[in-house]
Amino acid sequence: MNIIQAAAILQFLLVVRGSDVAGERKRVGCYYLGATTERYGTLYPEDIDASICTHVLYIHGAINNETQEIYLKPPSQNNKTGGEGFIPRLVKLKAVNPDLKLILHVLYRQVDWLSAEPSGRSKIIQNGIKWLNGSGFDGLDIAAAPLSPEDTEKMADLLCEMKNEFDKYGYSLATSLVGADEIAEETLGKIARCSDYIALLTYFPRGETHRIAPMNMIKSNVDWYVERGIPASKILAVVPAFGAIFTLEDPDDTGLGARVHGPGNDDLEMLGGLGIRNKELLRKLNDSSLGWTIRRDNETKEPYAFSNTRLWTSYEDTTSIEYKARYVLENGLGGIDIVAMEFEDDEGIGGEGRFPLTRTVYNTFRGGN
Ligand SMILES: *[C@@H]1O[C@H](CO)[C@@H](O)[C@H](O)[C@H]1NC(C)=O
Ligand SMILES: *[C@@H]1O[C@H](CO)[C@@H](O)[C@H](O)[C@H]1NC(C)=O
Ligand SMILES: *[C@@H]1O[C@H](CO)[C@@H](O)[C@H](O)[C@H]1NC(C)=O
Ligand SMILES: *[C@@H]1O[C@H](CO)[C@@H](O)[C@H](O)[C@H]1NC(C)=O
Ligand SMILES: *[C@@H]1O[C@H](CO)[C@@H](O)[C@H](O)[C@H]1NC(C)=O
Repeated sequence: MNIIQAAAILQFLLVVRGSDVAGERKRVGCYYLGATTERYGTLYPEDIDASICTHVLYIHGAINNETQEIYLKPPSQNNKTGGEGFIPRLVKLKAVNPDLKLILHVLYRQVDWLSAEPSGRSKIIQNGIKWLNGSGFDGLDIAAAPLSPEDTEKMADLLCEMKNEFDKYGYSLATSLVGADEIAEETLGKIARCSDYIALLTYFPRGETHRIAPMNMIKSNVDWYVERGIPASKILAVVPAFGAIFTLEDPDDTGLGARVHGPGNDDLEMLGGLGIRNKELLRKLNDSSLGWTIRRDNETKEPYAFSNTRLWTSYEDTTSIEYKARYVLENGLGGIDIVAMEFEDDEGIGGEGRFPLTRTVYNTFRGGN
C-alpha cells in the first residue's frame, strides 16, 4: 500500500446515512483488503469473523474510464491480492452471518470516468447493477479523493441517479468526501439524500505527532453535519485498526504536536513506515527493552505512547474504541467502520480475543441497543 492509497483509507471517515430505519441495529463495518504481504501473509475471507460484522467492505473496486465497467483493482499496485477469486469466498461468509452485507468499495484518486453526460452515468449505473447481480454483493461504496466543485456536482448527480436505480434492486450506495466544509450546502444535501452513507475524509497534520483517530475531530465533524440538518442517526465513524508511528526529533518533546524526525516503522508497507498494523504494534509495545510510557486522554481514553528509543505512536485500543462506540450510541449515530480486518489482532495475541477492536464495537452496540 503506498502513501496516497493508505492515506485515503486511513482518513477519518464520517458516514452519513440517508435511509436509516428507526431501531435498526448499528453498523459494524469491516474493511477488508485481501492483500498478501511478505511479512504478514494473507488474511483469507474465511479468516474474517463475520459474526461480529454487519458489513464487509472489500477495498478493490474501480471504474474503467472508457467502458464505464466496474472491475477489481488492487488498492496497492505492488501487493498481490485475492482479487476476483475472493468474491465467491466472501459471499460464503453469509453462511456464517445471513444478515451480512457485502459492499464493494471503489477507491479512486482521479475521476476521469465521472462523465458529465447522462449516457455515461447511466452506463456506470447499469454496469454497477450488473456487477452486483453477478457477484452476490449488496452495494457500492464510492470513496473519493478531494474533488473540484464541478466534479463534486457531477458526483452528486451520479449518486442521485444511481440511488434511484439501486433502490429498485435493494442495493445500497455510499460515498465519501474530503473537506465537506468546502462543498456547497446544496450539493452536500443532494449527496446526503442520494447516498445511504457519506464518508467524510480528514487529513492529519504533517511533521508532528498526532492522534490516529481523534475523538474531538469526530465530534466536530458530527456537529458540523448535524448543524446542517443531517440527522445524527445517519452518521457513522470509521476507526483505523493501525497506529501512526514516528521517530521523534527531540527525545524530550514527547507530547501531541511534537516535531517528527521520520517514520517509526522499518516496514514501509503502510504509509511508507508512518503506519503500523495493530497486531505488530502490540508486539512492539510488549517489548520492555524499548521502555514505553503510555499516556491516555482522561476523557476519551485515547492512548499514545513513546519509547526511550525515540519512537512515538498513537493507536486505537479496546478501551478507546469502546468510548467511541458509546459516543455513537449516546449520540444516536449510525455505527462504526473498522479499517481493516488484516490490521487487527487477528490471532488474539493481545489476550483480548481475535479482532478485539471489532469485537468491542460489536459487543458495545449489542449491549447498548
Ligand atoms: C507490498 O507493497 C509494499 C509497498 O509498495 C512493498 O514494499 C512490498 O514489497 C510489497 N509486498 C509484496 C509481498 O509484494
Ligand atoms: C483513461 O485512463 C487511462 C489510464 O490512466 C488514461 O491514459 C486515459 O487517458 C484515460 N482516458 C480518458 C478518456 O480519460
Ligand atoms: C441477474 O442475474 C440473473 C441470473 O444471471 C439474470 O437472470 C437477471 O436478469 C439479472 N438481473 C439484472 C438486474 O441484471
Ligand atoms: C509479551 O511478552 C511476553 C513475555 O516475553 C510474551 O510471553 C507474550 O507472548 C508477549 N505478547 C505479545 C502480544 O507479544
Ligand atoms: C488527567 O487526570 C490526572 C489525574 O487525575 C490529572 O492530574 C490531570 O491534570 C488530568 N489532565 C487533564 C488534561 O485533565
